[in-house]
Amino acid sequence: MIITIIGAGYVGLTSAAVYARLGHTVWLLECDEKKSQDLKNGIIPFYEPGLKELVGEVSTLGHLKPTTDIKEAIREAQLVFICVGTPSREDGSADLSQVETVAQQIASHLGRSCVVVNKSTVPVGTAERVQSIIKRSRIDAQEIEVASCPEFLREGNALHDLLNPDRVVIGAASEHAQKLLIAVHDQLPGQRVVTDVKTAEMIKYASNAFLATKISFINEMANVCELVGANIEDVARGMGSDPRIGSAFLKAGIGYGGSCFPKDTRALSSIAAEYNYDFQLLKSVIEVNQRQRERFVEKIQKKLTTLSGKVIAVLGLTFKNNTDDVRESSAIDIIRLLRAHGAVVRAYDPVGSQNARKIMPDITICPSIETVVKGADAVCILTEWNEFQSLQWLESIPPAKRIVFDGRNICDVAGINLPGTFYMSVGRPDIRIT
Ligand code: UDX
Repeated sequence: MIITIIGAGYVGLTSAAVYARLGHTVWLLECDEKKSQDLKNGIIPFYEPGLKELVGEVSTLGHLKPTTDIKEAIREAQLVFICVGTPSREDGSADLSQVETVAQQIASHLGRSCVVVNKSTVPVGTAERVQSIIKRSRIDAQEIEVASCPEFLREGNALHDLLNPDRVVIGAASEHAQKLLIAVHDQLPGQRVVTDVKTAEMIKYASNAFLATKISFINEMANVCELVGANIEDVARGMGSDPRIGSAFLKAGIGYGGSCFPKDTRALSSIAAEYNYDFQLLKSVIEVNQRQRERFVEKIQKKLTTLSGKVIAVLGLTFKNNTDDVRESSAIDIIRLLRAHGAVVRAYDPVGSQNARKIMPDITICPSIETVVKGADAVCILTEWNEFQSLQWLESIPPAKRIVFDGRNICDVAGINLPGTFYMSVGRPDIRIT
């Protein structure tokens, strides 16, 4: 099949590479000349395990064709996927300006009947809006249908998730569009959920909002565990073995971040408000997530008596491990809070330093765990990178300064035995080795 992907961000580029790997001819339209040229030269604009190799492989086979020329990109396409950004506006609603611009361009340049598909997470009714933009510009608009096929990939696991989806959600009005979308995914496993366009758009928001709810729930449980002296890890294990609950997304910590959960929960809350519905539960999920970051800093402050002038070594800047993405990262927010309380912060991250510097230019970055912890008054683990887990680096710190605040509960408490260590995590009893 000949398809076009518009936008070479996380979703666009990873999807393009995977559709190309499935044997489709994929035109990847990216308006940024440099980015597009880089892709032709095998340079990937972000860190994603396995992507560079896959892009190289499918480009050599001629299956992936990056371009900046919209005419060339959509001339023969049977399916055109819109994968551009939908950032949050000030008021929490989704900013659809990029989607609308693309709709306008498609309307002006598409030469033949085709199905346009929204893959970006967009509010209910966006496909209709794209359809009406196309309608305004074309007399043959009825030949161009707009469908929805939301993407559920996780950063850091993008290729695996794209090749092994649990479900492929297809929202389309006509049998023709449904069939095309079923055909383009026919080599992939997973359930097909074929439905109307608005429902497909809603499935994406509902999924992300529910996962965010699980995280805020377990974080609140962790806070109560701290008060009563229970252990959240065992509580989560006990709860998660009930298949009606499931063990995923029950890891307590400093809350969710990233390019999806924060933005999508705010957008869904704002969609509900637009229809005069007060989505109280979701509003609390968002509030609890913010509060969890503040609470972590308050706990550190209490332990150190004051943060003023204290040197804090931060391990981890990205919003989770296996990505270089720092968007809405809890770590970045916590660094801001620590600094606001007068702490002197320096940080180390295996791959996220460059991106962190873009949003926090004055951040002090160290090249290794050993250098960041040297001479610090305390260490904060803020991202769940494997290399922080073993606590081996604690040996290089004098006993009196072995103070660790683990915001991700990544350390196995049974293995903590170095004299002088004080270890505090989230929802688990503190550990003190004398
Ligand atoms: C998420 C969804 O999982 C994916 O389906 C959707 O398409 C996009 O949004 P992603 O943003 O890549 O994917 O991150 P994810 O792995 O889901 O983690 C989100 C955040 O929640 C991270 O900050 C992570 O550290 C945090 N998290 C996750 C927890 O705090 N506890 C958990 O149990 C799970």
